[in-house]
Amino acid sequence: MSARQVELEGEVYYPPQEVIQQAVLKDWDALAEFAQRDLEGFWAKEAEELVWFQKWEKVLDASQAPFYKWFVGGKVNIAYNAVDRHLLTFRKNKLALIWEAEDGKSERTFSYYALNREVNRMANIIKSMGVGKGDRVTIYMGRIPEIVFAMLACAKIGAIHSVVFGGFSVDALQGRIADSESKLVITCDGAYQNGKLVELKRIVDEALKHCPTVENVIVVKRTGHDVPMESMRDHWYHDMCALPIANGKCPTEEMDAEDPLFILYTSGSTGKPKAILHTHGGYMVGTYATLKYVFDINDEDRFWCTADPGWITGHSYLVYGPFLNGATVFMFEGGPAYPYPNRWWQLIERFGITIFYTAPTAIRGLMRFGEAWPNKHDLSSLRLLGTVGEPINPEAWKWFYRVIGKERCPIMDTWWQTETGAFMITPTPVVPLKPGSGTRPFFGQVAEIVDEQGNPVPDGSEGYLVLTRPWPSMLRTIYKDPERYVSQYWSKYPGKYMTGDSARRDKDGYFWIIGRVDDVIKVSGHRLGTAEIESALITHPAVAESAAIGLPHEVKGQAIYCFVQLKPGFAPSEELGEELRQHVARHMGPIARPEEVRFIDKLPKTRSGKIMRRVLKARAQGLPEGDLSTLEE
Ligand code: PRX
Repeated sequence: MSARQVELEGEVYYPPQEVIQQAVLKDWDALAEFAQRDLEGFWAKEAEELVWFQKWEKVLDASQAPFYKWFVGGKVNIAYNAVDRHLLTFRKNKLALIWEAEDGKSERTFSYYALNREVNRMANIIKSMGVGKGDRVTIYMGRIPEIVFAMLACAKIGAIHSVVFGGFSVDALQGRIADSESKLVITCDGAYQNGKLVELKRIVDEALKHCPTVENVIVVKRTGHDVPMESMRDHWYHDMCALPIANGKCPTEEMDAEDPLFILYTSGSTGKPKAILHTHGGYMVGTYATLKYVFDINDEDRFWCTADPGWITGHSYLVYGPFLNGATVFMFEGGPAYPYPNRWWQLIERFGITIFYTAPTAIRGLMRFGEAWPNKHDLSSLRLLGTVGEPINPEAWKWFYRVIGKERCPIMDTWWQTETGAFMITPTPVVPLKPGSGTRPFFGQVAEIVDEQGNPVPDGSEGYLVLTRPWPSMLRTIYKDPERYVSQYWSKYPGKYMTGDSARRDKDGYFWIIGRVDDVIKVSGHRLGTAEIESALITHPAVAESAAIGLPHEVKGQAIYCFVQLKPGFAPSEELGEELRQHVARHMGPIARPEEVRFIDKLPKTRSGKIMRRVLKARAQGLPEGDLSTLEE
């Protein structure tokens, strides 16, 4: 069902002939069949394309499932495969990274040779601060090349990085530094966002008031504005670079395949964010192979993934996946519409981007400005497009396909999660597409749609999406909380991985994601938990109790609405509502600013005290409230 033109149900877009001719993988069915038949054989073949210091003894060890192990006994380092190994080939002088500043006034480029030099320098400096294998390092920066160096440098010396998105603020940062017990924080003085300065270093200073494990802070100068530096603790990166210890090669740590590479905090259904743990071996093989097949990457490509390194998409497909494939990566500091809505299209033209991977929310936002903006630019360098983060509505899909891709560039709608590390449901360029569907599971994977009891539902019906086979880039655990790992993902349907999404499958076997079934809100593709927003609200003196919900939003996909019950002595007012919105933004970050705060006398709860968000959602949208029999008196 790939290059062959089979009859499929619904609206179908078949891949153009030239795409099929160029694709590295022409026969989807044959590889899918092989991976189904021999899961370990398929992944071993992919792993063999990378360099191992010592080969694995066993591809998959499922003896302690769901604590699966991959490439057991293998010795490897992902940074070696992402950088060092290319220096032995013609890629040594190939561009690895092209970076452009938000204001367009500076551009920096790094060959693989230069990238290696920068990673070594950063690694030497991190090491000189007493950080070694297994230590945690929090990275909190804007989108500048040094964030890439910092991640790869940690990997090189075996330290575990924990990148916190620069759009988060004090509380979110503090919680993540404290939970990870980081020894070192790497940050920058500030970042630019739509021409405005975001004072990252000051946010770090605030957060560190309550993080006793942090011994040192490395500060990269980006904006040059005045920032307080605490003597002994804070160090300018450029000063450190001038020291002799920064020079020369830093030895690459030989890691066990199962040694941790990074933790990344993400929101779950309840409580505080959980640290998803990924490893050197499996994550490396997963991101390498998925990018190779899905984005068909080759040495002529210039690959642009617009995600921030602070999210999993940035980890897997801005940093690790592309470098593992020896690709040329383009990284842009700014957002899509600053100073004008043609900023991205201008960059595609200027840098000759061939593969462009972004989020539905950005497409919807840019659509609103009309076709004239992209039409000013020559976008003919593009050959493939991609989306991720939330379901794409067919209208946005078609606009992207027609206006940006000129009906020549297939769209890879990739479904995956922080937990999966790499694409799980996705087409490849030769697969016929249906707007709004990520098509079918990646090679070796099997997805099912099940009911409450775990029984498969008939095709066409909605149910819970589960994955039934292990994969190399799967999360290994929740850092410091293995019980939560088991209960969260593997308990409801034993032996099956629960994704937290609802979906349906059509009769052609294509999957259609509907959305989250838990208390996760996807705001502009960013994953936020209602619990985190509520904990920020409760720190305000007027708030007795609150509930956050996500409601449909035309551009953002979902927007945050909060219901607040005030303490006695406080009265609802527009000003107080505005103050509470600001309060959340200040504590958690601007991405979590609620769209609206509504005051309520009493939150609807079940008799056991659980807030009935379903009722709030219905009320907010003026819909029927459904079964209220469990509502408390
Ligand atoms: O609901 C699904 C949605 O994003 C969730 C995972 O969020 P996060 O861990 O932040 O990772 C996002 C980037 C990989 C999923 O449970 N999601 C992600 N990709 C898609 C999607 N929903 C529909 N279509 C997608 N392509």
